[in-house]
Amino acid sequence: MSYISSIRLNNFRNLGNQEVNLSNLANIFIGPNGAGKTNLIESVSLISPGRGLKKEILNKISNFNSKDPWVIHLKYNKKNMPVLEIACTYEVSKTGTNTKRILINGNKEKKIFEQESIPNLIWFTPDMERLFNGSPSLRRNFIDRIVFSFDKKILIELNSYTKLLRERKKILETNNFDENWLNEVENKIVLLGTSIIKKRIHTIYLLNEIFDKKFESKKLNNCNLNITGYIEELYLDRKNINFEEVYLDELKKSRNSDRFKGGCSVGPHKSDFKVLFKKNKIYAEYCSTGQQKEIILNILLCQAYALIEKNNTSPIVLLDEICSHLDETTRSILLYFIEWLKIQVLMTGNDEKLFSFLSKKAKFFYVKDGIVNY
Ligand SMILES: Nc1ncnc2c1ncn2[C@@H]1O[C@H](COP(=O)(O)OP(=O)(O)OP(=O)(O)O)[C@@H](O)[C@H]1O
Ligand SMILES: [Mg+2]
Repeated sequence: MSYISSIRLNNFRNLGNQEVNLSNLANIFIGPNGAGKTNLIESVSLISPGRGLKKEILNKISNFNSKDPWVIHLKYNKKNMPVLEIACTYEVSKTGTNTKRILINGNKEKKIFEQESIPNLIWFTPDMERLFNGSPSLRRNFIDRIVFSFDKKILIELNSYTKLLRERKKILETNNFDENWLNEVENKIVLLGTSIIKKRIHTIYLLNEIFDKKFESKKLNNCNLNITGYIEELYLDRKNINFEEVYLDELKKSRNSDRFKGGCSVGPHKSDFKVLFKKNKIYAEYCSTGQQKEIILNILLCQAYALIEKNNTSPIVLLDEICSHLDETTRSILLYFIEWLKIQVLMTGNDEKLFSFLSKKAKFFYVKDGIVNY
């Protein structure tokens, strides 16, 4: 199994300078509001692409009383490998933009997120509870993060795809545009768009298979995941049509309206992610707050299981405020399941009693005024 054995922080939010030694299984951070629990798990999340689980701007994370930038040092124990020292901080460029920097054993790494030496992280935060009632882009990001945990290339593909859509928009806005150039851009859009669609569908297929075949005997409530949209409908009909040709044709047909409306009316950037909660046979968006939270956690645990079984990697799971909104039965099943997976988990909460379903192996930390005690 892979796990983080220590987190050492410098100038990091209200935690300042501290070192925390972790258990390779469940770690629970208990403390009052504003203690620094979420900040602690946020520090780990920052080694993933993007702005971490609080989606914070990089230069707002340094301790208010410090002029120096924040730095995170992690000791990462990866299966069959010597311990890796991962450091993460940010730099301000001459133009004033903040860029994240990651060092592995003191070396600056290029294309860092493609590297297998970076831990595979899965996280849950309370604002994800609104996932099913928010905009489709939230759900696309959610599913793309899951795809990314299996296939690091999706991140580059999504970025390139977005750039191409912008390029197409610019061309369409030009009077007497160069048709050859537009054709070339649309060809590239179809290539990347198809790859993104395939990867999403493949991942969802994998998760559904695990829900049906592996989790059935467990008490975890079953979910059926689906990625929906016009382009997916066409893709699923690919036995009867030449999908890529039809996709390209759809782009051509929508040129005029896209020129007026702006944007691009067809493609995986229009898709949505739907989940059927099988227990009640209702879609997630109609479920209660607690049920929606349960669905998301079930999907994340299914993802963790798939990574262990199919990818032979053990992810590290960060769960912020996991117990609130969940009834005793759901909580007990989830906590049982987390331990059953035998992966490293970092969880936060206000009330230690809510974690009573965990075994004695779980390590409890107490956080108060930015100080973490064990
Ligand atoms: N850059 C910073 N420097 C110093 N303190 C900060 C910084 N950013 C945030 N804080 C403070 O960190 C404190 C802890 O925040 P955190 O979100 O970790 O609390 P928490 O323990 O998770 O609380 P809750 O139970 O309410 O979720 C907050 O009081 C916040 O004001
Ligand atoms: Mg918190």
